[in-house]
Amino acid sequence: MPSKAVYLETFGCQMNELDSELVAGSLTALGYRFTADASEADIVLYNTCSVRERAEQKVWSRLGEMKHRKAKQPDLVVGVLGCMAERDGQDLISRMPVVDIMCGPSELDKLPELLDNAVRTKASLAESDPKVAIRRSAKQVALQGNASRRSSTLAAAGDSLESLDLGRMISPVDFDGRRSAYVRITRGCNKFCTYCVVPHTRGAEIHRPPQNIIDEIKALADTGVVEITLLGQTVNHYRFEHDEAVTVDGIVQPQKGRTYKGSHNRDSFEGANTTTFADLLYRIHEEVPSVRRLRFLTSYPRDFGDDVLQVIRDCPRICRFIHVPAQTGSNRMLKMMNRGHSIEEYYEFIARCNEYLHQPEIGRPLMLGGDLIVGFPTETEEDHELTKELLTRSRYKNCYIFKYSPRPGTVSYDKIPDDIPDVLKRQRNNELLNLQTEISDSIAQEQVGGEFDIFVEGLSRREHKKRGTDVKPGSGMVGITIGGSAPQAKIAVLDPEIQGATVQMSGRTDGDLIVFFDVPTDGVKIPSEYIGQIVRAKITGADKLTLNGILV
Ligand code: 5AD
Ligand code: SF4
Repeated sequence: MPSKAVYLETFGCQMNELDSELVAGSLTALGYRFTADASEADIVLYNTCSVRERAEQKVWSRLGEMKHRKAKQPDLVVGVLGCMAERDGQDLISRMPVVDIMCGPSELDKLPELLDNAVRTKASLAESDPKVAIRRSAKQVALQGNASRRSSTLAAAGDSLESLDLGRMISPVDFDGRRSAYVRITRGCNKFCTYCVVPHTRGAEIHRPPQNIIDEIKALADTGVVEITLLGQTVNHYRFEHDEAVTVDGIVQPQKGRTYKGSHNRDSFEGANTTTFADLLYRIHEEVPSVRRLRFLTSYPRDFGDDVLQVIRDCPRICRFIHVPAQTGSNRMLKMMNRGHSIEEYYEFIARCNEYLHQPEIGRPLMLGGDLIVGFPTETEEDHELTKELLTRSRYKNCYIFKYSPRPGTVSYDKIPDDIPDVLKRQRNNELLNLQTEISDSIAQEQVGGEFDIFVEGLSRREHKKRGTDVKPGSGMVGITIGGSAPQAKIAVLDPEIQGATVQMSGRTDGDLIVFFDVPTDGVKIPSEYIGQIVRAKITGADKLTLNGILV
């Protein structure tokens, strides 16, 4: 088949960014080529998100645009991947006949087959009667996608999907220059928070075998990746039950993460047949030391044992940043959200995190991140005040604040009327945003004078802007985007001939604080050589949420 041009746009979370990257890898290996220009594509794919209505609306409007385009280009193939495909199913097809392919998150391994079918069907139908081609192929291919989704059992979905993640090792997307990558450890979610669509779209929790995860990380490290972010909806729930005890060289392993037995240890150790999250972190840290930064997203505030905190404390390459959403500061709301923990338990958890991990004296202060939902049904002024207290007490480095968005299929959508008017949601949202800005600001100020290891990510946005106007291949800077809009998927390479006093670059502390600093362009080291390196910088100032530093 001739090489078809694919345009792939990603909406939503990191999990989707990773899915897009894996899809891009598998399609590239099959001879498809990717383009950043939708107008020259033969195939347009949207990897969608259903978590909030706004993300869905964006996709609907993209699909609306495609309707006009398809009138002019009947053999264009349009695919909806991800959560909307799973949730809206047949509805989406009837509402938007422009869609040829739908492929839910648990079916992405089948995308090449669906795509191949769609392209072939279009080509053969277009030859006979181009007008019929559009509608008939849409129906056929879409139904195919649905049928296979219905028939796949969870276990089978787990197994076949594993090949999507593992495929990365066989055909890594052009990793040249990549220094940072996501690695999935858990799919799906079992929590069923009442507002959340994820358990419905991504299905039940499935944990990947630890050896597969480690092999994947080793393969990434071999291509030069030095920062790994482990992904899971409730990443700390990772737990893999082995059929047999875990052995290395024939010796049964008391899993190393669990050899830590501090006085706070509250975990029940289940023997050598289980790999816990603590074990996994420890194994990656020990077995792939070329990974200089190990991160993980997103944590669930319950069942977070001291064993994990001890491993993070004792492993220097595991980062001191925990994104651990609370959603609300009110116990009444937590209950209605079915979060499974009280606010007291949350406070106890972050106190424990601070006790173990907050070590500013060695330049490693703990940074926390959060998510909040404002305007959940029946939220009172008193609940809102409790959420403000949550922000003040938790002192997040950053916190995402979302207005409640009722999602069809969830318990809260079905059972609890969305009774908080939008103006009030917006007002509460702004109040929380302002409070969070003050907190982030004061955390940034506290870092002034300190010294940190900075993982260099690339040119700063300011530098991009400054030079962006004269981007020409071969002169100045070349930006390459692979697999969607993931910031970590972008690399910027500076031509050695760039001249000028200094170039401003940006990087992150291990607590995930962004730092800007200048590097000289003195010909000794070209700026692009800093990318992916860890440099030491002293913080000289803080401007709102970002830090400025100088290399030391
Ligand atoms: N409305 C608003 N925010 C939501 N989130 C999840 N579902 C909803 C919803 N229905 C937020 C939560 C979650 C983040 C990924 O998205 O804060 O942590
Ligand atoms: Fe959604 Fe709750 Fe699962 Fe997070 S833990 S993905 S909010 S159901």
